[in-house]
Amino acid sequence: MDNRLLQEIDLTQLPVHIAIIMDGNGRWAKKQGLSRIYGHQNGVTSIRDIVKFCAEIGVKYLTLYAFSTENWARPKHEVKKLMSLLEEYLVKELPTFIENNIRFKTIGLIDGLPPVVQDRIKENIERTTNNTGLTLNLALNYSGRSEISDSIRRIAVDVHNGSLRPEDIDESTISGYLFTSGMPDPDLLIRTSGEMRISNFLLWQISYTELWITDVLWPEFRREHLVDAIKAYQSRERRFGKV
Ligand code: FPP
Repeated sequence: MDNRLLQEIDLTQLPVHIAIIMDGNGRWAKKQGLSRIYGHQNGVTSIRDIVKFCAEIGVKYLTLYAFSTENWARPKHEVKKLMSLLEEYLVKELPTFIENNIRFKTIGLIDGLPPVVQDRIKENIERTTNNTGLTLNLALNYSGRSEISDSIRRIAVDVHNGSLRPEDIDESTISGYLFTSGMPDPDLLIRTSGEMRISNFLLWQISYTELWITDVLWPEFRREHLVDAIKAYQSRERRFGKV
């Protein structure tokens, strides 16, 4: 590990949960005169570096926006390629997850993914369920609004069957029905490629999350950029609405 890089941040004050909107694969590919697919392939290299680094330094949760419910509207061949990259990633990375004590999880409507991808997801979750290091949480077929709708539907069912009383519903009840149930809210949300948008990501969970946006395109994003983001986070004073 690069010690110089580590000296730039306070390892005792790391964000517990980092979330990333990985954007700019297409633009990166276009800049090199290549197809968008090539950008996604190189995006996977960035994922590998960031996951490994987070596991090494002791970040507890990393949530990556890998495929949104809106992404189905992309050209068919691009969606197909993203799904096959995902399948390949899950197969290839499982040994790394096991070696590095990484627990694999997902958020999103997993039933809507191709069955082969669902099988790989199940396998990765099962085989890493007792790991205690980094939790890598991939957002797949995910959007914040669909997550909230899904949880309201399940809350309604539980009210209807009598296991939940409407007067007992509070913020923690709602958090408990979201896909992120049991995880702390993100402390830091990073977005690459300069866009100033949330894009339907973790809408409930980011109420007090610190935002950090960089012009770096996702395929070029590496651990040194993450260190910059953590440095910025550590220089901020978080007030959570208080003075
Ligand atoms: C956005 O770039 C990127 C995504 C669609 C999500 C991230 C996907 C990957 C990094 C690759 C596959 C993921 C896994 C886990 C194997 P964009 O295409 O929207 O870029 P643009 O805005 O420049 O067009």
